[in-house]
Formats: sequence, structure tokens, C-alpha cells
Amino acid sequence: MKRREFLERAASVPLLVPLIGCGGGGDGSPTDPAPGGGPGTVPTGLDLPDLPRLANSGGPGAFHSSITAARANVQFATGVNTEAWAYNGVVPGPLVELHEGDDFRVTFTNQLPQESNIHWHGLPVPPEMDGNPMDVIPPGGSFTYAFTVPPGTAGTYWFHPHAHHVSHEQFFRGLNGMIIVRSASDPVPGDIPEKHLYITDLKLDSAGAIPGNTDGDDLNGREGNHVLVNGRQEPVIRIRPGSSQRWRIVNATSARPLRLALQDHTFIVIGTDGGLLASPVAMGELFLAPAERAEVIVTANQGAGSSHLLVALPYDRQKIVSPGLSAQLTVATLTYTSESPAASSPLPASLRPIGPLESPRAIQQAAFTNTAPMGAIMFGINGKLFDPGRVDLIARVNDVEEWEVTNLAGMDHPFHLHGGQFQVISRTRGGVTVAEPFLAWRDTFNTVGGETVRFRMIQRFTGTRVFHCHIMEHESHGMMATLMVV
Ligand code: C2O
Ligand code: CU
Ligand code: CU
Repeated sequence: MKRREFLERAASVPLLVPLIGCGGGGDGSPTDPAPGGGPGTVPTGLDLPDLPRLANSGGPGAFHSSITAARANVQFATGVNTEAWAYNGVVPGPLVELHEGDDFRVTFTNQLPQESNIHWHGLPVPPEMDGNPMDVIPPGGSFTYAFTVPPGTAGTYWFHPHAHHVSHEQFFRGLNGMIIVRSASDPVPGDIPEKHLYITDLKLDSAGAIPGNTDGDDLNGREGNHVLVNGRQEPVIRIRPGSSQRWRIVNATSARPLRLALQDHTFIVIGTDGGLLASPVAMGELFLAPAERAEVIVTANQGAGSSHLLVALPYDRQKIVSPGLSAQLTVATLTYTSESPAASSPLPASLRPIGPLESPRAIQQAAFTNTAPMGAIMFGINGKLFDPGRVDLIARVNDVEEWEVTNLAGMDHPFHLHGGQFQVISRTRGGVTVAEPFLAWRDTFNTVGGETVRFRMIQRFTGTRVFHCHIMEHESHGMMATLMVV
């Protein structure tokens, strides 16, 4: 299938199509770039590496470890050392692999020249253990994060710094990593191998250094010139013909929404931020806002030896500086081995029950706003910039509350609230309200200018936490507010 046909086909695939066998089509012409790349260039076409795992010194039922944030030299371009800020020396950070019920105890040491902390994005843990911007560790300091990984949280999460004003810089210099929580009983057949696609956006200058932000980066949210998966550009994912793989995908970019499509394949979506759906949903295209995650099943129903591009389709996020449609980019290549076909076990029709959150006891309202004194742009929430000492909204612990989030600030802004997972109820765009088509546990969603999104949530811990736009620059510059749970 040619690129234009693919684009047209991808554009014509409805967001939700009935769950049927994946349609085929296309000649599967190999489009592999030649592996490697000369000195000074970021190589493409190498195999997708596994993420290094964070070592666990706890026994069964425990996860005990330590994470240090410090400067490190990392090789992104061949033969060039790039100074990054890294967790335990690696970019992206090490994979934190947990089990429901684990006694979690991780000591964080800050060897950066700035305050920092670690936020466990999406996990329902007590606020004082969740790395909120009010709780920062000074340069040279350390802190032990300790909590129990709650039952029912099996899913895909991630971690990153959350110190006010500096989190975006620590983030783009390399400080972030993936978390997986596993359950004792996973309904996905064990013979379906798992791949992790941790997608980041690296900006390298011509000397191979990570430059600071331009004004445009601060306004739009920073985009890089190398979209990486597990630290590699356009890697190759190998699959045996006939078999299936389970992909956990994380959009760990500062600001880039990803409209993912896999040439000649349909994604069978089985999970969102907070884990498995009630049943699988087939999608031709998967939209992941910055900070959003998904689990999908990919089945190899094309010919042995064929290659198919995983792309991010063009998207217009209504940027302020250099607006317009983004160019399509290749994220990875799926390459079939020449092995004989072997089918994986079928996916069960039901994955796990999700009970709807009903009868909210209170309504919370939050609007993304732009207060523009003398033409400047100041993204805030409910007309204000972040103040860690101010209480913006108050919620009651263990109550179902409904949130109404409205984007009055022009460009796309992904919303994120700390404290756990919620259920999106409906989205209103251009006066048309669309009920959410299926129940899912999420902690992040995109909003476009003028849109209102409603969701329901229960906060399980008292204390103060934050909600914000997950474009890292916007969050860092004040598009964030506090929620006190009483
Ligand atoms: Cu990724 Cu405040 O979060
Ligand atoms: Cu978070
Ligand atoms: Cu924003």
C-alpha cells in the first residue's frame, strides 16, 4: 500500500469499528531504512531494545530499590556523548515493574543542581508519597517513597519529576521512566509476548547537545527532532507470522499528541491508563495525548518477511508559534520474521469488569484559561497561575465527584489529575455532546479549544494534590492548581 493510500485509509477508519478479525490488504512492501547511521547521526532501523529494569532487593510481595537523579553521558548519536540528566544513568529511566499489593519502598537521591522529586503518575497513593510540587527534595537530599501498591491497579504508569518551574527541563533532559503494575491473575493469554513502546521526544542540536527551550517551546510545549521508542529512533519490532503481541504504549513526550496507526493492521485496544478494559475494542487509529498510555494487541496477519510502518499521523494541536498540521512521522517498523506461521491463544471476550461510577455527590469545575496581560500569553487554571500554598478546589474523600473541564485556552491542553483513575462520561465539542463509548480507567485526556469533558472520580486519600495541563512547559509555568481532599 502506498503512503497516500495508507493515509487515506487511516483517515477513513472510524474511531471505533466493531470487533472483527483484522482486515488485510496491502502488498506489505518492505520500507526498512538501512540499519545504522553514520557518526554524529541518530541511528535508525536497529532492533527495539528492552528497557533496563530497576533492580528489586525486596523479597516476594515487596519492591525495594533506589533511584538517583544525576548528570550522565548518554549516546544518542553515533560516537557523540550527550550530557543528559538521568535516573540511575539511563535515558529513558529504568522500568519499574511492580505487582498489586507490593510493599513499595524506593529511596530517591537528588544529585541535580535543582530541587526535584518523583511523581508516580496515575497511581492511587497517598499525596505525601506522590511527589506533588509542594514536596520537593533539595539538591543533595534524599527521600524514601513508601506505599502499598493498591489491589486493582494493574496497568501502565510512568514516573517523572514535579518540582515547580523546573519539571519541564528535568523532563526533557531525560528524567522519566515507565511503570508496570501486574496482577496475580491477568486474563491476557501468557503466550502473547509483551513489548514496551516508551515514546519520547528528544531535541538535539548540531553539536549533539540537548539545548534549552526557545520561546516557541515554552508557548507551544517543546517538540524534539527525534521521536524515540525505548531510546531508539525508528526501531524495528520483530513478530512471528500469525502470532500476536501485547504492546504497552506510553506517550512520554513533553507536548506531542500521537495519532498512532499501524500500516495494514488494526489495533485491538485492551487497556488504557489504569489497566484493562471490560472487553477489547478494535481501532484503526489510536490517539494518545502527552502522558496517556494504552495496551493493544497486534496480530501478524500479513505475509512472512513483510514490513509495516507504525506512524504518527498528521495532527493540528493549534500551536501558537508555527501553527498547522504536523508532518507524518515514522515511530517504528513492524517486521515479520520468516518463521512458519504460529497463532497465539485467542483473547478472551471479557477482560475484567469495570463498574460505572454513579450519582456524583459534588461537581467540580475547572477551566483552562489564558489571561493575556498586554498581549503576553499566560496559561492558567480558572484564571490563575499555580500557587502551591493556595487551595483551589476541595473534594470529599471516598465520594463520587463529577468534574467538568473546559478548555478556554485555544490550543489543545491534555488534562491530568493526581490521585488515581477516573471514568470519562462525555465530551462536548462545538455544542455537540458525545457520551463516552465505553468505560475505561484513565488519568489523562486531551481537550481541544472550546471543548468540555466530564469525568467521575473517587479520591481515596485525604491531603492536597494537583491537577494540571500535561504539556510539561505549561505545567511548569503555572497551568496547574491544587485539590484539597478532606
Ligand atoms: Cu505526569 Cu502531575 O503528572
Ligand atoms: Cu500525575
Ligand atoms: Cu497546556
